[in-house]
Amino acid sequence: MKNFTFYNPTRILFGKGRIADLAREIPAGARVLVTYGGGSALANGALPEVREALRGFVSIEFPGIEPNPVYETLQRAAEIARREKIDFLLAVGGGSVIDGTKFIAAAVPFAGDAWDILEKHAKITAALPFGVVLTLPATGSEMNNGAVISRATSKLAFGSPRIYPLFSILDPTKTYSLPPKQTANGVVDAFVHVIEQYLTFPVQAKVQDRFSESLLLTLIEEGPKALKDPQNYDARANIMWTATMALNGLVAMGVPTDWATHMVGHEITALHGLDHAQTLAIVLPAMLTVRREEKREKLLQYADRVWGLRDGAPDEAIDRAIECTRDFFESLGVKTRLSDYGIGSEAIPALLSQLERHKMTALGEHGAFGVEDARKTLEKAL
Ligand code: NZQ
Ligand code: ZN
Repeated sequence: MKNFTFYNPTRILFGKGRIADLAREIPAGARVLVTYGGGSALANGALPEVREALRGFVSIEFPGIEPNPVYETLQRAAEIARREKIDFLLAVGGGSVIDGTKFIAAAVPFAGDAWDILEKHAKITAALPFGVVLTLPATGSEMNNGAVISRATSKLAFGSPRIYPLFSILDPTKTYSLPPKQTANGVVDAFVHVIEQYLTFPVQAKVQDRFSESLLLTLIEEGPKALKDPQNYDARANIMWTATMALNGLVAMGVPTDWATHMVGHEITALHGLDHAQTLAIVLPAMLTVRREEKREKLLQYADRVWGLRDGAPDEAIDRAIECTRDFFESLGVKTRLSDYGIGSEAIPALLSQLERHKMTALGEHGAFGVEDARKTLEKAL
């Protein structure tokens, strides 16, 4: 196991009815900007409960943060925040609203061109404090310090210890309204987050491995239940907590991490507009096939402990484990081939140029996944 420092300051308020506890978490006298997306927060009751809980505060609302949040929209919110002397942000929504709010938090006090935060990894020395009311379990953004922002054909990530949410409220009943596509997307995204941190090479990190396996197994068990019965509280609660734990830093401690699937996936979203999880469902099975030798030991462990594939030749077990992964995504209704989304081989050169343009040419746990590997992966994903 490698050395590590674990730090995560986000306070989690989990369970039914917890939005009512919101006011206690916000500093007294704060001027609050409530951010949300296209209206789902209103329809599912989260926003009305937030409004009720914020009665004692000065608050204004900024709606319209889009899925794959857009830089220009967030800059408008930052301007309003400055003008209205906002000193606390509250994100009500999924990963896009949370990520967008993280960017607003960093952009408000930022001197200079805020795009530098993404393109040049400019250091963030200050950020507004913010909280979260989560409505879509998927990204883990509610308990981590990363965000992904889009501008034209660039979809770029940034991170800073200053953009952890102060608190996040996770009420599983607020996820009952998710359409099947978003429920499935969330399960796939959380699944791939675990895989990116688990399926690399062994470093004798027993707790991280077994913890990761428990998260994967929970998603495999509970994902189909939530799709079948959207108001199954236990399934929703388990998925919600799993997605948070999948990307709050814990399972990444002391182990190598990959993230190549995500980086290739971001380019597919940037050029073709697919949902984040759809890109992961396409890239991961192809990625594992192309890199099966490099990941051999962990693939065998994954086959055994997650899919129960213990008999037969090792290569067969690896084949089957990759097949099971693909079948799982497909069973949730998330298609796993570029061609399923009308994308053909003619799209590959532009995706590779994007990776080069964004300096994504030394990816993976060994820093050895280059453009040629990305080509092979995308060809396998057709
Ligand atoms: O806009 P509204 O009306 O809120 O509707 C949203 C949106 O259309 C809807 N939705 C959310 N909660 C709902 C709901 N509909 C019904 N009932 C509810 N309870 O779902 C749609 C998708 O929302 P979005 O926030 O875009 O989805 P998700 O949470 O999957 O976030 C995706 C974004 O997060 C980034 C992705 O790249 C993408 O931009 N990621 C962020 C990460 C992080 N910060 O750590 C890591 C991830 O790997 C990922 O890259
Ligand atoms: Zn993701």
